[in-house]
Amino acid sequence: MRDFEREDDYVAAATLGEWRLPPGLKRALPYYALRKWVSFGEPIPLFEHLHQVFGRIAHYRFMGSTIVFVNDPAWIEEILVNQSASFVRERTLKRMKILLGEGLITSDDPIHLRQRRIAAPAFHRQRIAGYAGQIVDSAKAAADRWNAGEEIDIADEMMQLSLHIVARTLFDSEVTADVLSVRDEVNTIMGLYNFLVAFPRLERVLHWPIPGVMQFRRSRARLDALVASIIASRRSLSRQQLEQRGDLLSTLMAARDEEATGAGMSDTQLRDEVLTIFLAGYETVANALTWTWYLLSQNPEAAGRMYAEVDQVLGGGVATMQSYPQLKYTEMVFAESMRLYPPAWAMGRQSTRTVELGPYRFPSDTHFFISQYIMHRSPEFWDDPLAFRPERHTPEAKAARPRFVYFPFGGGNRQCIGESFAWMEGVLSLATIAQRWRLHFVPKHPVVAQARITLRPEFPMTMRVESAGNQSDYL
Ligand code: HEM
Repeated sequence: MRDFEREDDYVAAATLGEWRLPPGLKRALPYYALRKWVSFGEPIPLFEHLHQVFGRIAHYRFMGSTIVFVNDPAWIEEILVNQSASFVRERTLKRMKILLGEGLITSDDPIHLRQRRIAAPAFHRQRIAGYAGQIVDSAKAAADRWNAGEEIDIADEMMQLSLHIVARTLFDSEVTADVLSVRDEVNTIMGLYNFLVAFPRLERVLHWPIPGVMQFRRSRARLDALVASIIASRRSLSRQQLEQRGDLLSTLMAARDEEATGAGMSDTQLRDEVLTIFLAGYETVANALTWTWYLLSQNPEAAGRMYAEVDQVLGGGVATMQSYPQLKYTEMVFAESMRLYPPAWAMGRQSTRTVELGPYRFPSDTHFFISQYIMHRSPEFWDDPLAFRPERHTPEAKAARPRFVYFPFGGGNRQCIGESFAWMEGVLSLATIAQRWRLHFVPKHPVVAQARITLRPEFPMTMRVESAGNQSDYL
């Protein structure tokens, strides 16, 4: 970012006709930064720079658009909550439509509102409590695969674990094997998506016979065929039978839009939502768990406290929905890990009308970026921000800070629908594995956070597995 360090590269806050822009970068992003940003998906250094130089708000120009970076909790609340009706999702994320159609992540109102209304009960705290047993079984199966003294790639292991969990809870165990068989497809899609999203006219590019694009199309077709066949096989079931099955897909198929037409979801809507939930719930949790194991390996005191809590709460028995609320320190560890390494590291919105934030006034079609990664590490809001301190997440500490200083799951009408699920999955998986193993980081590869769709480790993360010691009847 050396190019931005000269003072004449900056512009002060300015009034342009009826618009009032905050300070920012004078020139459009230079070509090298554009190339770096678009092709490697690494805007974090740019956001860090804007935050360091300008503080709470800054703007820059990129490919003909005005982009505003906001790092102020009150203004973030304006964008996500108070003035949310003036925004839609930013176009970069909307490009995911090539894969997710009009699912919850990519759709705008009124489609989004309706889909959210139908899907919400399936994610209700009480409803998802029923998945605790499946989460613990999957975590136990992962732990069973390891041997004392063995070295594992924890990032890969956590991907397998969360894929297993999402496959079982979303589709039921009958089809888990089929779903796991598309793991390579999902990974291909996630990998290629980062590359494809850089194309300005993506929809057109999708028909081109270039190798990466053809591979994307093939993987998408396989995934589609699998989801379509699972949906078709359940269409013959009555609403009551669907409700009794208990998996997320059946719950979504049984759900009706009671507030409006009383209709359920069409096959296309179900397909879009199922793929959305599948992808949203897979990599995010896997990365959160991976970073948590890494941070625990670097912070033995916090790790010791967590292990002691797990021993005391579980007493050698299996983790359950009843033990979950008692695993308070484990939950704080997970929370602190998502502060330092938020899986959803940034969010974007595009204004659809005039928007005012404090003294600033922006026209329609301005792009706004908010970054959990930057906010969660801002020295204005966090004491010694880079230190790993789970105690930051006691109920008292949470109540004392502004809402949008810590927001790994976003906020407002588009807040993560899977949040309760993710907390339960994270805490129960950590506790189940910690009951049995200690994981020691082996510095074979550098630890670098890569900002892709989610914040993931760029290189494999090797951990040596050692026995936790006394495990009584858990084994
Ligand atoms: C640690 C794990 C997770 C994190 C950090 C996370 C984070 C987020 C964030 C920040 C958003 C809002 C994005 C925005 O407003 O632009 C979001 C939306 C969403 N998440 Fe999650 N998520 C996680 C796990 C899950 C899980 C487990 C599921 C499903 C089982 C899920 C399903 C969704 C869906 C469907 C949306 C779109 C909601 C809407 O727009 O109405 N997420 N997530």
